[in-house]
Amino acid sequence: MAHSNNKMSTPLSPVASSSSRRKKSQVLKPMPPLRIGMVGGGTIGGGVYELIMGRLKEERPYSPRSSSKHSKQSQVCRKRPLWITKVCVKDLSKPRSFHLDEEITTMTTNVDSILNDPNIDMVVEVMGGTGLAKKVVEEGLMKGKMVVTANKALLANHLESIQGLVNQIQEAQDKQLLQHQQEQQLYMYNMPLPVASCFGFEAAVCAGIPIIHTLQTCYAGDVIHQIQGICNGTTNYILEKMKNGASMEEALLETQDLGYAEEDPNEDIEGFDVRVKICLLAKLAFGLTVPVQDVPCRGITLLERIDFEYAKVLGCTIKLVGTAQRLHEAREWDGPLSVYVSPLMVPKDHVLARISSHGNAVAITSANMGTCSYLGPGAGRFPTANSVVADICRIADGQQGPAFPIEAPPHLELDLDYIAIFYIRIPFQDGLGIIKRVGELSEDCGVSIHSILQTPIMDRMSADFCVTTEECKVSQVEDLCEAINQQVDFCRAPCVYMPMMREIYY
Ligand SMILES: NC(=O)c1ccc[n+]([C@@H]2O[C@H](COP(=O)([O-])OP(=O)(O)OC[C@H]3O[C@@H](n4cnc5c(N)ncnc54)[C@H](OP(=O)(O)O)[C@@H]3O)[C@@H](O)[C@H]2O)c1
Repeated sequence: MAHSNNKMSTPLSPVASSSSRRKKSQVLKPMPPLRIGMVGGGTIGGGVYELIMGRLKEERPYSPRSSSKHSKQSQVCRKRPLWITKVCVKDLSKPRSFHLDEEITTMTTNVDSILNDPNIDMVVEVMGGTGLAKKVVEEGLMKGKMVVTANKALLANHLESIQGLVNQIQEAQDKQLLQHQQEQQLYMYNMPLPVASCFGFEAAVCAGIPIIHTLQTCYAGDVIHQIQGICNGTTNYILEKMKNGASMEEALLETQDLGYAEEDPNEDIEGFDVRVKICLLAKLAFGLTVPVQDVPCRGITLLERIDFEYAKVLGCTIKLVGTAQRLHEAREWDGPLSVYVSPLMVPKDHVLARISSHGNAVAITSANMGTCSYLGPGAGRFPTANSVVADICRIADGQQGPAFPIEAPPHLELDLDYIAIFYIRIPFQDGLGIIKRVGELSEDCGVSIHSILQTPIMDRMSADFCVTTEECKVSQVEDLCEAINQQVDFCRAPCVYMPMMREIYY
């Protein structure tokens, strides 16, 4: 672990000092405010500041001055007042999109002034990136502070080290609490009362949808088979526009104007943003840490309008979906775990097909519940800030459960050569025998063709036909596409393929 030599401080979590276990004779004092240092004061940080220090107010018992003008404070956390006492930004001269309460909050450009401040109980990282943000999160934890982050890239790329640190702190807290409870004779059994977690990352996936907390807490008695998520609003918006006739470039520009797109558009359109999110969801659902870079990832750049026409013929629409699923035979979902990102043919009556605009959705299929879907805003100032504040409140109230509660079953393997039924589009210049040749190559590659479709040819020099396959491995489809591109003379451009949702045939 990067900071294993540092001395780790482990204060008792809020649960340990809960008033519920105080002796009756003790005078109960109100909880002091929880002091927050926030790193980042941009779109999300500004939203968090407004929610905590502005929008929702109540009497402030700990006002630094008694003036009635300042007697209001947040009621977003019911048990304990919340104060954001420091906000760290890059450029102090930049105008801010939130109203600063100068009596309580100071601005800084130095993260260490937050990390080293003994009066700060919690660090909220809403800066982004994986460099300084890693230091903020890890050092914050090591210094005994509660930590909340909205940073999916940081988590996905440094999951093992952050999880190791969180577990280490949890164990140390458990030990400390056990000792405390033994000394105070607070319980009868050789096991401490549960300690609340000091770490939250609800906003890191699907922003406003409480999917992290749901996976951490609601599937304890269940077995998850599959997660499929539309986790990127920008591409969902682009695909919707393309379905209605726009080009990808036009749709991307529009979404950039609306302020939804990532700074680097490749993160969105090549599927990289979805990839980090599905890896995080897979970790929570199946317990396995999936190496992000290994996950097969196809974005939406090769899609054309004709794909949407064929999707319509197939009773589907096209969505960019992250999938994590246990492979199964005869409905026994106990095979290896497959994780991938790809455009997906989704039947038009499926809940994922109905996600419009910048919306996000996650469909979870499990043994007890069948398929449950969670829909909502996947980006934006207040939806994301809402999830950050929900973490802050749960942690402050001592109600946050373990960050990574599920352990991978023994022998669970990762198989990234995923299995699906596929749609393959073959762009061609009209010529005799093309379908026969594609059939022969399919046989060579072990791909069994389910159907052949062709919309009327308008231009003999620029036409497309498509095939759908029976279940096969993605590597077989890649081989087939490669063979068609190399060996079929009238193939005019690389073949486009994508998996089709299984429900189509089941
Ligand atoms: N935007 C969304 O819809 C959304 C949704 C889900 C999750 N998130 C995650 O939330 C996090 C923040 O996103 P955002 O949209 O709020 O980003 P943002 O608007 O660019 O804000 C970033 C903030 O971090 C500060 N900052 C950057 N580098 C810094 C440094 N070296 N030292 C100190 N401060 C620094 C910036 O300071 P200045 O203001 O002075 O430049 C700015 O206030 C990211 O991890 C993102 O992935 C965002």
